[in-house]
Amino acid sequence: MTSFLNSSIGKKFLMSLSGLFLISFLLVHLIVNSMILFDPTGVLFNNAAHFMGTNPIIRIVEPVLAIGFILHIFYAGLLTLQNQWARPVGYAKQNSANSSKWASRNMFVLGSLVFIFLVIHISNFFWKIKFTGSELLEQGSVDGVENAFLLVTTFFINWWWIVIVYVVGAVVLGIHLTHAFWAAFQTLGLSDSRWRKRLEIVGWVYTIIVAGGFALIPLWVKISSLIN
Ligand code: HEM
Repeated sequence: MTSFLNSSIGKKFLMSLSGLFLISFLLVHLIVNSMILFDPTGVLFNNAAHFMGTNPIIRIVEPVLAIGFILHIFYAGLLTLQNQWARPVGYAKQNSANSSKWASRNMFVLGSLVFIFLVIHISNFFWKIKFTGSELLEQGSVDGVENAFLLVTTFFINWWWIVIVYVVGAVVLGIHLTHAFWAAFQTLGLSDSRWRKRLEIVGWVYTIIVAGGFALIPLWVKISSLIN
């Protein structure tokens, strides 16, 4: 088992498994966040965020999520370094252009940009909700349900640059996902030449929904504040 996990395929296996877990998380996260679009009073989003923050099952999943992120990032770095050492010169230009798309050749750079976005994002909301608190969370809080809606929307309404960071973050995440989705199934042995095309299509649909949804929320909040 240890020798499998130390092999290149073992590392790719763990990356794909943790990647699929993160892919599922993103969909759930988007569903909760989309309540911001459907209910401008914020009650729906606040209750959903509170449920996610206090539900015992979700509380068990949270550290698993953190471990998933760490594993994914750690193995991505390790595999990229191993590939560099094994092939310091790189393939001829015409080979790499034919054999793989731009996203697949830049997964480490794309992943690193998503990581930078994630650090900004966690410090914006998660850190305040879980650890430091904020006056905004207290305002209009009902029955111990913190006003996460006010915190999130105040960020987007007050700072254009935050809106831009979130839209760019969603686009970069989307490009990362176009390759990640089918590649994860392929590495886990769950795809063949027939399924590859189908998975690529499902991957594109998933990516458009997830990246489009995450980009739409800050834009929607900012633009509606300018109209109203
Ligand atoms: C419109 C965009 C987004 C909004 C409004 C949003 C909102 C939030 C909020 C309010 C929290 C804190 C939840 C709590 O602790 O109760 C959170 C946590 C988190 N977000 Fe986001 N998020 C967005 C996009 C993203 C994206 C694109 C990613 C991944 C690349 C992401 C990953 C995470 C993670 C890992 C956590 C910590 C785990 C958790 O609390 O569930 N978020 N987000």
